[in-house]
Amino acid sequence: MSHSSEPRPMTSRRSGPLKGVAQVPGDKSISHRALILGALSVGETKITGLLEGEDVLDTAKAMAAFGAQVERHGPGEWTVNGVGVGGFAEPEGVIDCGNSGTGVRLIMGAMATTGITATFSGDASLSRRPMARVTDPLALFGAEFTAREGGRLPITVKGAVDPVPVRYRTPVASAQIKSAVLLAGLNVPGDTVVIEAEPTRDHSERMLAGFGADIRSETTDEGHVITLKGRAELRAQPVAVPRDPSSAAFPVAAALIVPGSEIRVPGVSRNPTRDGLYVTLLEMGADIAFENPREEGGEPVADLVVRHGPLKGVSVPAERASSMIDEFPILSVIAAYADGVTVMNGVAELRVKESDRIDAMARGLEANGIRVEETDDSMTVHGAGNVPGGGTAVTHLDHRIAMSFMVLGMAAENPVSVDDGSPIMTSFPDFLPLMQGLGAELG
Ligand code: S3P
Repeated sequence: MSHSSEPRPMTSRRSGPLKGVAQVPGDKSISHRALILGALSVGETKITGLLEGEDVLDTAKAMAAFGAQVERHGPGEWTVNGVGVGGFAEPEGVIDCGNSGTGVRLIMGAMATTGITATFSGDASLSRRPMARVTDPLALFGAEFTAREGGRLPITVKGAVDPVPVRYRTPVASAQIKSAVLLAGLNVPGDTVVIEAEPTRDHSERMLAGFGADIRSETTDEGHVITLKGRAELRAQPVAVPRDPSSAAFPVAAALIVPGSEIRVPGVSRNPTRDGLYVTLLEMGADIAFENPREEGGEPVADLVVRHGPLKGVSVPAERASSMIDEFPILSVIAAYADGVTVMNGVAELRVKESDRIDAMARGLEANGIRVEETDDSMTVHGAGNVPGGGTAVTHLDHRIAMSFMVLGMAAENPVSVDDGSPIMTSFPDFLPLMQGLGAELG
């Protein structure tokens, strides 16, 4: 969707203290999964708090194309009447997943063990991203793929008619690969096993268990092992989507760097497989309180209270990378305002996100007077205290790059611009009014 919109240049300026309540949108990962599992269930799944960003809306359309009845009843309120495991119908048109790697990879998994054929496409960013990481394991089930050079989209998937169970060790830490294999395993007789060296976000496992699948996770000598019993019947469930910690990171970062700020961010997921940024910020000396810890929709949540204060540079260990994989762009902005050097280790995966995020952040920070060093799998930001600003960053169709540079400008000496802020619509449609409501100057 964002691929068809006009570029929208944006600029942010040094802002007064940010104050107020930031109601950030629903979790993107959980929103995709709620629609997909709803479509694979028997009965009606009621979803509240669904993220209505372009990525998730593309997944909703895809589920309708595969035969589910998907309806919107009000803001964030949706129902899905599913077709049951193995019940997907062959879509008539091409499934356009827009900008969403999660959408395309999970949906390919969900249909790969059903004897139908579907063709997937995406925008220029998604069409550059590696898909062999999911088509390789899905081929082990018996699915067949026709892809563009380098395993890129568009891809036609011929689902396996007689799928066989798979035992698969993920070659890189990726919840998308894990989830694609697990979703494929639903329609296969016997146990499908995924082994990961480091645990990645576990929303698929939590939600599959909630929908009645027989799934277990254990840590063994092999690593983190997830076993799913196939040919399961999924039962429709209500899903209350918690607020997205990756989206919360932007107002949180803004409050940390703009002097005099104090904001509240209610109901944010504190799932331990997602909270690496918050662990890192506390190490940097950030003033963040986690109030009213509770459980919502099967996920731990808390209300965050964030105040501006001095920050110091830290070294982020490689083992933490997967629990904050989407937060490195905004961490590199916070690091620019910290005292000393921040080193981010084990972040090679950033090079194959919506953009090459190491390159996009390094070039954009340099354009705004910040010193950055990079290797294939690390990034080092030299904190400056005073950030000169005055530069324009190229966002490469990447929502998190756009939002990160908008935050950078809120405390910089000169305005900071991006060439195109339209990709923000993929994950955080209310970013602009929400930040303006806190007192930030951007537009
Ligand atoms: C996601 C997993 C991560 C993350 C993405 C969402 C998911 O990707 O970057 O934004 O919902 O499973 P990888 O699995 O490729 O690391």
